[in-house]
Amino acid sequence: MKLRTFILISLSSFALFAWVVKSSWALDAPMSEEAVAGKEVWQRYNCVSCHTLFGNGGYVGGDLTQITARRSPEQLSDFFSNPPVIPPHQKETHVALTEEETQAMTAYFDYLNTIPTLGWPPQPRVLEGGDAP
Ligand code: HEC
Repeated sequence: MKLRTFILISLSSFALFAWVVKSSWALDAPMSEEAVAGKEVWQRYNCVSCHTLFGNGGYVGGDLTQITARRSPEQLSDFFSNPPVIPPHQKETHVALTEEETQAMTAYFDYLNTIPTLGWPPQPRVLEGGDAP
């Protein structure tokens, strides 16, 4: 390859790259600032050591990917301001969060709940009729 061709291809590749980067700036931020703050709360308290998101994490607590579909903001706020004693030791109480942290956490959970999971997690099959035991 001639040097001139090489330089031409390099420059046009760089121009294309710069254009893609610049146009991506115009895209909406996928997460609100509050949701980002919630993600930081999630990381600071190491929630992932006991809970899974999209199936990844610890299995002591449940999966929280779609928790806001099951729990209202009031229920979450009650839970974090007055956390229950948790298994397996029955001595430790669950991590408590401040009102501000709970709001951020809920915003993050709300964001997670908008991510399509194509039916995951699978729901238990309910058998109707038939001779299944
Ligand atoms: C030491 C392990 C552990 C850590 C760390 C932990 N959790 Fe939990 N979490 C549990 C267990 C166990 C339960 C189930 C409690 C129960 O059902 O009595 C639970 C329950 C919950 C629930 C209620 C779930 C439901 O179905 O109602 C939420 C919400 C929750 N955790 C969020 C969090 C968040 C957010 C963090 C980090 C700030 C966190 N947890 C950190 C163990 C943990």
